[in-house]
Amino acid sequence: MWTGRFSEATADRVLRYSESVSYDWQLYRHDIAGSIAHARAQMHAGLLTAEEFNAIEKGLASIRDDIDAGRFSWSTRLEDVHMNIENELTRRIGPTGAKLHTARSRNDQVATDTRLYCREQVDAVRAALREMQRVLVEKAEQYAELRIPGYTHLQRAQPVTVAHHLLAYVEMLARDDSRLVDCRRRLNVCPLGSGAIAGSTINLDRAAIAAELGFDAVSENSMDAIADRDYVMEVLFCLSLIGLHLSRLSEDLVLWSSAEFGFCVLSDAHTTGSSLMPQKKNPDVCELTRGKTGRLCGNLMSVMVAVKGLPLTYNRDLQEDKEPLFDSFRTILMALGVNAEMIAAMRMNPERCSAAVADPLLLATDLADYLVRRGVPFRQAHELVGKAVALSVQTGVPLNKLTTDQYSSISSEFGDDVASVFDLDRAFSLRTNPGSPNIARTSARLAFWKQELA
Ligand code: ARG
Repeated sequence: MWTGRFSEATADRVLRYSESVSYDWQLYRHDIAGSIAHARAQMHAGLLTAEEFNAIEKGLASIRDDIDAGRFSWSTRLEDVHMNIENELTRRIGPTGAKLHTARSRNDQVATDTRLYCREQVDAVRAALREMQRVLVEKAEQYAELRIPGYTHLQRAQPVTVAHHLLAYVEMLARDDSRLVDCRRRLNVCPLGSGAIAGSTINLDRAAIAAELGFDAVSENSMDAIADRDYVMEVLFCLSLIGLHLSRLSEDLVLWSSAEFGFCVLSDAHTTGSSLMPQKKNPDVCELTRGKTGRLCGNLMSVMVAVKGLPLTYNRDLQEDKEPLFDSFRTILMALGVNAEMIAAMRMNPERCSAAVADPLLLATDLADYLVRRGVPFRQAHELVGKAVALSVQTGVPLNKLTTDQYSSISSEFGDDVASVFDLDRAFSLRTNPGSPNIARTSARLAFWKQELA
């Protein structure tokens, strides 16, 4: 590929080791858009005639059509997507094609392509996030008043509703979305014009190029623009966090769908069987989402480690940003798509949920609050209720079935209205503060999200 300085062809092993076209071909649409904007600026600077520009634009468009249609043959001899396209352009339109790379380097070119790619994919992830939120909100609405135990340490803690539990994920995904919006703003800056490291003696209208490509601004330092990949890492972090949230939801569903919990039933279409055990119905989608989150975090780590010790500016190590980046976008888009579908098809099992939430121990804290309302300091109330729990465990009588005498044997602070504490409806209605699993509060939040996501 290199003539001039070199008298020997690149060794085959080096070519195989260094080529990136086998994966960076995915940048072709962004690469071509960038080249057309660059060529137009060359025309305006008097470096290309209008005919030459038209030839370049048409040539690039025909290459794009061929790649779209799967008719393009990529060559690893030409290393990467940039050289493949430029080479083919010159083959198609003749010597004019050789003018395209004036005032440009693959260093600013690849940074531009990668930013355009990130912007497009971030928008796709945002749409998929919204869809996932919509499905969760719908499911929450369907089971707005169905109660289940909430867990800490995976031990029964306090009663919540299915809606409150699912809406927790809607809130998490909303923050994930706002992180993407934030990082999109930072990455939407145009590096073209930075050249290999120090700009060019041939000055093109950078602002016009940036505007044509939909960038909000041009980069302010040529060395920074070609050397940094902070936007890649930021995106990978955002995607890892989405994966983490989905992974925790997956774990909840693995538990909920087990025979031990039996809170939900995943559809046959979103579960798999066992090759040996005929009775099995496995939550593989949940498990794969949990497992793939390892990849998402790993992709972030691999780019961070690759960039960490690099002197300014471009080093070939930076080529290692692409496979993790492509992989994370592909993975998270698949994960969001399949999880949304699975949640939409999921049914809750109201009998099992109600049986579990009938455990009176879930209201032990409410019983302490009852004593507090009667003037007992909370620490003391905590101890008195602890004693009642111990008595219940000892005698095998549920906490809500201990007699008034048994309660007054523990403390005279317990009145004869203790039983009212164990009324679940009442327990939910007493939690009126914002953020609590109160039925009215939840339905207000559901209404908010439905409007937000409409
Ligand atoms: N494939 C390269 C990358 O992804 C493109 C830039 C190559 N630049 C260079 N000076 N070798 O980083």
